[in-house]
Amino acid sequence: MAITIAELQKKKEAGEKLTMVTTYDATFAQLVEAAGIDMILIGDSLGNVMQGRGSTLGVTVDNMIYHTQCVLRGCSSPLVVVDMPFGSYQVCDDEGVRNGIRILKESGGHAVKIEGGARVVNLVKRLVDAGVPVMGHLGLTPQSVHTMSGYHVQGKSDDAAETMYQDALALEAAGAFSVVLECVPRSLAKRIQDALHIPVIGIGAGPDVAGQVLVIQDLLGMSYGKKSKFVRHYASLADVITHALKDYASCVKDGSFPSDQESYH
Ligand code: KIV
Repeated sequence: MAITIAELQKKKEAGEKLTMVTTYDATFAQLVEAAGIDMILIGDSLGNVMQGRGSTLGVTVDNMIYHTQCVLRGCSSPLVVVDMPFGSYQVCDDEGVRNGIRILKESGGHAVKIEGGARVVNLVKRLVDAGVPVMGHLGLTPQSVHTMSGYHVQGKSDDAAETMYQDALALEAAGAFSVVLECVPRSLAKRIQDALHIPVIGIGAGPDVAGQVLVIQDLLGMSYGKKSKFVRHYASLADVITHALKDYASCVKDGSFPSDQESYH
């Protein structure tokens, strides 16, 4: 049985920090579960890290369902939150409700995550009424990369900070069980968490919130690309994996793999 939203809320109230990572397949899901992580996010960041796209915009509802099914074959204890991808809820709330229900029904995930503030509040209410738990997402919302003119820290001006603060209050009032804050100044994230009862999960939002989320490939150091300021590498798997693959290739080439002991007789 997966950890429940009520149990996560209790942990937050007890001052225990919440942990969340993105995961997209069964192999990693087993490792994430073994590490005792509270929540898995099937992020639409799979568009970047799994599909090699330059943004999350091309990800489909079918992609999200497929990767969530893969993850749920590898774990049972974390709460599994599934991103609603670009285009699955922006046209109208009816379509958003239909897609939210479809995602829970077909993927087996426990909740959905939706980017946006005031414009999604009514949809959040309707999804929660329909039995679909919702995590909000404010700050840098990658599905709006073009309207935001790129990936930048959000909420820096007084007006933008006030709008984000009001959006967070509105999401909680609409029934969201948690809100992700991505790339916002630490002081604003603290102000928002202090005003909310539900847990704020930060990514590039500083330490004064209830929990943290990172893309698993980032935290494991699995790529040679530029590292964002808010990412910490807890391993350098890109080096480990490349070294292992080079070793394998050289053993195959020099004939030392497979050995007689690694052969059937
Ligand atoms: O898609 C994703 O991985 C996310 C996190 C960055 C919060 O939304």
